[in-house]
Amino acid sequence: MPAPIIEVDRVSKSFGPLRVLEELSFTVAPGEKLALIGPSGSGKTTILRILMTLETINSGHIKVDGEYLFHMPKNGGLAPADERHLHRMRAKIGMVFQLFNLFPHKSVLDNVTLAPILTKGVAKADAERQAMELLDMVGLADKAKAMPAQLSGGQKQRVAIARALALQPKIMLFDEVTSALDPELVEEVLNVMRRLAEETDMTMLLVTHEMGFAHDFADRVLFFDRGSIVEEGPPDEIFTNPKEERTQAFLKKIIAAGQRV
Ligand SMILES: Nc1ncnc2c1ncn2[C@@H]1O[C@H](COP(=O)(O)OP(=O)(O)OP(=O)(O)O)[C@@H](O)[C@H]1O
Ligand SMILES: [Mg+2]
Repeated sequence: MPAPIIEVDRVSKSFGPLRVLEELSFTVAPGEKLALIGPSGSGKTTILRILMTLETINSGHIKVDGEYLFHMPKNGGLAPADERHLHRMRAKIGMVFQLFNLFPHKSVLDNVTLAPILTKGVAKADAERQAMELLDMVGLADKAKAMPAQLSGGQKQRVAIARALALQPKIMLFDEVTSALDPELVEEVLNVMRRLAEETDMTMLLVTHEMGFAHDFADRVLFFDRGSIVEEGPPDEIFTNPKEERTQAFLKKIIAAGQRV
């Protein structure tokens, strides 16, 4: 077994009086494709936002790529991470959200090249060459000069994926990237993610309500409820033979709503 690329160790998180993560622990192997499923409010988005350092934690530890995320070694012990440490750690992880958050006044190409040029000092010509390769990968090379407002939701979301990939993260986080899309646009975005999963060795964490896709995509599924993991295992086990009552009840509801699992 290779060393995990992500280690979440007894992490708790509250918003005011509301306990959202309850001593949450899991690890992710390098290159693993992980699906996070579970009821609304169970803490799935919160743990992704914590990994992106968009939220802090109240207790516990997280390691990413062998280093503490919120702590750094100091005088033989651990001290809270400073902004420089957080900045360096953030570069390891890319994220795509439910709502496309492209820069509205920048072209598709500029949306993809801006961060590499500004945050990594990549030369413009190199950034553009790489961006064109990524846009080609997501099937949008012909839209490089378009503005976001001229794109469909599915196209915007594919640009958002290309933009996150442009920073060459080791880990990609996807939070319900298709749930704001019209049904006919969902498949084109899922296809891009399928290709990424098949053709790269990137570590991918996916939060989704599309159980059929989670089943095809994931090496392992984590079922969240009330801020901790109730059950985990390979998709064939979780979806066809769940052991825990809460997992069974959750999947029963999904199937009753007409979804393929
Ligand atoms: N910034 C915040 N301030 C206060 N409460 C928050 C905040 N962010 C999330 N919460 C609460 O934390 C809980 C977990 O939210 P989270 O977004 O992680 O759930 P989720 O599993 O992603 O749900 P969904 O499937 O609906 O997206 C919810 O009760 C939510 O209302
Ligand atoms: Mg969520």
